[in-house]
Amino acid sequence: MKGLLLSGGSGTRLRPLTHSGPKQLIPVANKPVLIYALEDLQRAGITDIAVILGLNGREQVIERIGDGSQCGVNVTYIDQGAPLGIAHAVACAEDFMGQDPFVVYLGDNILRHGIAPLVAEFDEGACDAVVALQSVDDPERYGVAELDEASGRLIQLVEKPKAPKSNLALVGVYLFTTPIFDAIRQIEPSWRNELEITDAIQKLIDTRYIVKHHVIQGWWKDTGMPEDILEVNRLLLDDLVPCVEGAVEGGGVVKGRVSIGRGSVLKQGSVVFGPAIIGENCTIDAGTYIGPYTSIGDNTHVSGAHIEDSIVIGDSVITCKETIVESLIGDKTQIRSTDQKLPKGYRLIVGSGSSIDL
Ligand code: TTP
Repeated sequence: MKGLLLSGGSGTRLRPLTHSGPKQLIPVANKPVLIYALEDLQRAGITDIAVILGLNGREQVIERIGDGSQCGVNVTYIDQGAPLGIAHAVACAEDFMGQDPFVVYLGDNILRHGIAPLVAEFDEGACDAVVALQSVDDPERYGVAELDEASGRLIQLVEKPKAPKSNLALVGVYLFTTPIFDAIRQIEPSWRNELEITDAIQKLIDTRYIVKHHVIQGWWKDTGMPEDILEVNRLLLDDLVPCVEGAVEGGGVVKGRVSIGRGSVLKQGSVVFGPAIIGENCTIDAGTYIGPYTSIGDNTHVSGAHIEDSIVIGDSVITCKETIVESLIGDKTQIRSTDQKLPKGYRLIVGSGSSIDL
């Protein structure tokens, strides 16, 4: 079995973070979402993997993953170009897949228990595709599955329905065999001008191919929006294995489950309250409080701030004496306190599509 990891798309809902790179490289608990997916594929025994590249940040993806050997896999890159839909991305990989069955993994999805149970469900010869489902509270945000009451079989998939027929959302991992390519050739672009994977799977069902479903256990998240990324960060930090490789100076306080990377220093009078992760080569000065559910990326200097429930991607300097909560802070960012003698006000240099709560 081969793998297909999707790293195209435009990531409009994550602007401005996606102005400078693809959303699949945004780190949660200090590791890019895409790397979790590669590791899941490897753990499921899938090592021959094509990565779909879009127009946004293709070089950054290649630079981060390389030939895949650091994750124990063998990576081939395929250019999709413009984001013409998930089914279009799958079609781009037809030559690479040949006659092999394959797993498609959306590069912005993350599953707590990985994909091994789903891959085990696939019984070549007995079915043509397997889709993963999970019950959600807000099915209108997702592709939704309708199961036949009598047989329990999957009969219909609808993309973001206004009146969902179930609460079973389509998770971003699919197992396919070669008939999917013919199904994709038979569908038309949707109203948003994308070839939808739900339409292609529906085509398989309507042409009487056997599409099984597997309800996954453990949490699953699609990191399409900032609040989803912060939630995944919390979920991952709940499972954090503490590991202090950096230095905690006398008078620096570490409480709860905390990981501190090599070369980082917690100065006297600083506090890190877990679950929290500090990357490599960071300096946490006196008077700083890093609170629960916070990930601080490599090469970051924090002095005097109180940061909680947030992600600081890295290479940043935060020297303001303020409380920062539920924030997603891009790389190479500087946040300072202004001269308090000036009239109180906010000085903002903010890119298009930003979201700021003052
Ligand atoms: P989406 O989140 O549906 O689309 P998007 O990445 O364009 O984001 P937004 O809606 O915020 O603009 O994509 C799901 C996954 O599939 C994601 O990892 C990107 C990938 N993808 C492709 O590789 N090619 C595509 O043509 C599309 C639409 C998505």
